[in-house]
Amino acid sequence: LTRPAYLYDVTWRHEQARLQALEDLFDPASRYFIERLGIAQGWQCLEVGFGAGSMAVWFSDRVGPSGRVLATDLDPRLLPSTGRPNLRIVQHDLMSDALAPEDTAAFDLVHTRAVLAHIPDHAAALRRLLQAVRPGGWLVVEDMDATGPVMAAAAERYTSPLAAQGVYRACMRALHEVLTQGGRDPGCGAALPTAMRELGLQNVGAELHAPIVAGGAERDCMRLTIEYLHDRLLATGLIDRRELEQFLQLTRESTFSYVPLFMVTAWGRTSD
Ligand SMILES: C[S@@+](CC[C@H](N)C(=O)[O-])C[C@H]1O[C@@H](n2cnc3c(N)ncnc32)[C@H](O)[C@@H]1O
Repeated sequence: LTRPAYLYDVTWRHEQARLQALEDLFDPASRYFIERLGIAQGWQCLEVGFGAGSMAVWFSDRVGPSGRVLATDLDPRLLPSTGRPNLRIVQHDLMSDALAPEDTAAFDLVHTRAVLAHIPDHAAALRRLLQAVRPGGWLVVEDMDATGPVMAAAAERYTSPLAAQGVYRACMRALHEVLTQGGRDPGCGAALPTAMRELGLQNVGAELHAPIVAGGAERDCMRLTIEYLHDRLLATGLIDRRELEQFLQLTRESTFSYVPLFMVTAWGRTSD
């Protein structure tokens, strides 16, 4: 498989805010599920594709001075050095860079969120993540199930006011077209529970969740995503300029509410 270039540009002036908005939406659930697995002081955690880095910083707090966190990303510049002795930030491509020998089969917990959707070969990505988990450790993979016709129709039910549903639908169609180009899969979350079982993991569990968001937030992940992809969305021919502007305007209004995306959290443990 040839891999498409990563879709977003870390140097875009709003990319940090866009990723922080994603963190605002999903960190509470990610932390909740990871707490339930028993994360404790002294754990060694790997965060892959850390983005703006809030989960990596949380891991650093949570595992304390006796633990360690390795945080990797294709482009790590949105989390400059934090001065935390237990947090190491490394530029690393999950799909082409080898893990250091001391990081192989080493981690109590390997976590990644919203990264697989950008990598067409999910099975290979999961195998690479698994290589880092120590015997008896946990792999937690979170990814979206968004924009495909079935999930977009489900999300549309939560779009209010009703008059906004048409423009929401057009936006999801165009977004789906852009997000699937190059073999990317914005529906990959749905396959995670089975994929985790097929990896031979035990105690596999998964949950689907979706925040219902009000418009008017200072940083809104969907609004910033649409602003960034604006021209590519128009180029699909599935939405016109007026509809895009209408959708962007809705996301600025506190009377608008909608589901930006469904997220699947899946976890499983390697055998001792
Ligand atoms: C949508 S962001 C998600 C960021 C963060 N995980 C979160 O959920 O808040 C995807 C991140 O994955 C990184 N990424 C994409 N492909 C990657 C790869 N092959 N190896 C490592 N990181 C990758 C991107 O640079 C980006 O920071």
